[in-house]
Amino acid sequence: MMTEHTESADFMDEDHDEAMALLARVVQCLGEMPSSGVGSGRLREDLLDFIEHSRAHFRREEALMKAVEFPPFQIHKQEHDTRLEALVAYVDDLDAGVMEPEDLKQRLEEDFIPWYRRHCATMDQATARFVARKGG
Ligand SMILES: [Fe+2]
Repeated sequence: MMTEHTESADFMDEDHDEAMALLARVVQCLGEMPSSGVGSGRLREDLLDFIEHSRAHFRREEALMKAVEFPPFQIHKQEHDTRLEALVAYVDDLDAGVMEPEDLKQRLEEDFIPWYRRHCATMDQATARFVARKGG
């Protein structure tokens, strides 16, 4: 059987660094906004950039997991899906005026960013190790 081991987890670290840089921009933007300000165009743009990046990054990881038949694929993908939904909901909540920028800043700093770091250190590391063992 012809099996080509072109799968590689090399993209992951770079993607994660990019994600952290995009997130830092969002947090900085939130910190600069007036406390009762309506969502600014720049915030929306930065947030959408991060969401777009995350969607593409998560899909790359999922394609890699499928290619190497990573057993906990569903658990890993479920985390991605849940977090993407939450991010999209933040944009909707800002647009609807039911979430203030400082609330979003707090959620990102106290929940999303710690989750992202944990996720990289656990799920993503486990995926990368599995790929390496498979000879990717
Ligand atoms: Fe992941």
